[in-house]
Amino acid sequence: MVALLLATQGPPDSGGALFQAWCKSCHGADGRGTPAATTRLEVPPADLKDCKASTAETEDRWVGIVAQGGAAFGLSLDMPAFGDAATPEQIRAVVRYARSLCGEPGWPPGELNFPRAFVVEKAYPEDEVVITDEARGQEFIYEHRLGKRFQMEASARTAFDGLPNSFDGATAALKFNAWHSLERRALASFGVEVTPPLGRQTLWEVEPFFAFGASLASALMVQGQVVTTWEEAGGVTAWSYRLGVGGGREIGRVVPMVEAEWVVPGAGERTLSFYPQMWVRLSRLGHVAASFGAELPAVGPEPRHPKLIAFVLWDYGDAPLLRGW
Ligand code: HEC
Repeated sequence: MVALLLATQGPPDSGGALFQAWCKSCHGADGRGTPAATTRLEVPPADLKDCKASTAETEDRWVGIVAQGGAAFGLSLDMPAFGDAATPEQIRAVVRYARSLCGEPGWPPGELNFPRAFVVEKAYPEDEVVITDEARGQEFIYEHRLGKRFQMEASARTAFDGLPNSFDGATAALKFNAWHSLERRALASFGVEVTPPLGRQTLWEVEPFFAFGASLASALMVQGQVVTTWEEAGGVTAWSYRLGVGGGREIGRVVPMVEAEWVVPGAGERTLSFYPQMWVRLSRLGHVAASFGAELPAVGPEPRHPKLIAFVLWDYGDAPLLRGW
């Protein structure tokens, strides 16, 4: 029996053996979770085998949950803390084992899910709801992951600026994570946004884009995007180049960032704007966050007025809105 256990789970200190000893009673031998009826837990133990859920998070976050317990992250007290009973090496090993239960390659790792910026599109596919306010314009964004690497998006814009028709328009988008590498801490995606003539928008607009994100030296994060704007009747009307630079990790709960956008239209003046901003993690779990900042136009037609910008987001793939606080 012992020989069999060793053969299937490896040596007693291996992640697999620790998992069977410490985690199986709630999460099940395969990580799928044991039925609540048999464990009498208030919250069902998380399905650790679910690829979408496990890959979307970072290894460090799971290490934190296992070491400090669920309550430290606003999760259920039923997820115990192993930090006093286990060594850091054992915790890392059991977490790596739990994260290997997904068993499917090709899912972009949560380490590459960089904080959302104002203008650069995230390269990481998300399950997210975002509400943005920019001066008197609002945008409501719904993003939904499809499979390992696709994300579809629907958004609607309103503007309460005194002009008739406050419905500004709606956009649909599709994004595909073409490449990612955990070793290189980088990822790249392609996508397209389509805006039909609705609301104040009078012509069809199609915007293919390329987006990337990279973490440099762990203290610095860079995100960028190149967008082509194609308009019905006008053809390609502009190219936009967006680059954002930010802190590589949270300072307290804050990640400071600054973005620049350079727009080169086919006709008319080029514009350059800067976007200083502060991303703030609101929930303990990090699934609700906000960002505050401004658009500062530096080059382009007069008058150039700064605008305040803010958004709040809820990563609904991570946890229900009211959990994780
Ligand atoms: C006493 C039961 C119990 C034991 C033992 C247990 N867990 Fe949990 N675990 C839970 C419950 C319940 C949750 C769900 C918490 C919530 O969602 O509020 C959970 C959640 C988690 C999460 C968070 C998942 C997510 O999607 O955020 C991780 C990671 C985790 N457990 C890993 C482990 C590991 C690894 C072990 C063994 C070292 C372990 N657990 C042992 C009950 C348990």
